[in-house]
Amino acid sequence: MTDPLTKLTYQAVQEGKKFFSLAHKGLSTQIGQLVTSEREDRTFPVSLEVLALIQTHLDRLREIDWKEAQQGIYPTELLFDDPWFDFAQYYPILWFDLPQIWDRVSRKQYQKFDADIETSGYPSYYVQNFHHQTNGYLSDLSANLYDLQVELLFNGSADTMRRRVLAPLKRGLAEVTGDLPQHPIRVLDVATGTGRTLRFLRKTLPQASLHGTDLSPAYLRKANQLLSDLPETLPQLCQANAEDLPYRDNHFHGITCVFLFHELPPEARQNVIEQCYRVLQPGGTFIICDSLQTDDVPEFNSLLHNFHTTFHEPYHRHYIGDDMTQRLHQAGFGEVETQVHLMSKYWIARKSV
Ligand SMILES: C[S@@+](CC[C@H](N)C(=O)[O-])C[C@H]1O[C@@H](n2cnc3c(N)ncnc32)[C@H](O)[C@@H]1O
Repeated sequence: MTDPLTKLTYQAVQEGKKFFSLAHKGLSTQIGQLVTSEREDRTFPVSLEVLALIQTHLDRLREIDWKEAQQGIYPTELLFDDPWFDFAQYYPILWFDLPQIWDRVSRKQYQKFDADIETSGYPSYYVQNFHHQTNGYLSDLSANLYDLQVELLFNGSADTMRRRVLAPLKRGLAEVTGDLPQHPIRVLDVATGTGRTLRFLRKTLPQASLHGTDLSPAYLRKANQLLSDLPETLPQLCQANAEDLPYRDNHFHGITCVFLFHELPPEARQNVIEQCYRVLQPGGTFIICDSLQTDDVPEFNSLLHNFHTTFHEPYHRHYIGDDMTQRLHQAGFGEVETQVHLMSKYWIARKSV
């Protein structure tokens, strides 16, 4: 394929995912309201001006995604790396799961788990039906549906936002190791979930020693399945609480953490940052990608409110006002740069040498 054709294909796939997501959300919301007779009157209406601004930010995000692939920061094939087979397989199952979700929503049940789900041994803040997920993060069904649900939530741009950690990470690694391919680089993805970021890291840093942790055995099983179809060395996965990482001090050259912090209470946020500081080498880079915060894009404040009002996100309300830069400095990090891409915010923090 010639470059203009590849770009056109990329844009068409992205637009296709966006329209599919909007249609899905419109239909499922309407049916949900009919079935449960619930009206979300605690949410703010989204004006046409805000919708137009979302599209502007989305276009900008895609342009950066395309440009960074063209610059060789990651291979162009990553732009098309959607788990289509999984999406097709699990989309009907997602509809079968919705009645249970509507039932829990109408009963205001937010910590409901099936009897065969083991919930002991996890921090209490974790034992939740985050985003009304059936069995929270603790079942194989939840792990199978997760990537599809997140893509639908972000209108097909979840991976595009995840890929924004790659350029600053590569920059940071080049500074700490000099000539990248000559060094045994170690990179950790904290709370890796189904391993989407690890997959991108694997293709971006084929020689690196990659590691991923998460609290959920089911999500790690899914990550293992999705990562093992890549020909490169399988990243090492480990079940662990990010508040107590099972690695020695100063071990990693780079650490990423995507979409975790808005699901942690404030004290756990600080503990995770401190653990990441501890296991990072001096000169290493720690990159957080998470939800936008209040006033990052003032026009999107109502969307942030709607997010934690509509989905079960018990810590997001506090998170959007939390000073994460201050938390990073408190843990010992030196420079902290921030970026904003569509609905995500990024903190790029260096551990001083
Ligand atoms: C919203 S998901 C994000 C997953 C993945 N990083 C992504 O990009 O989709 C949050 C993940 O954090 C994990 N998690 C939540 N609290 C954790 C903790 N204290 N320690 C480790 N993992 C945790 C969950 O199991 C879940 O996989």
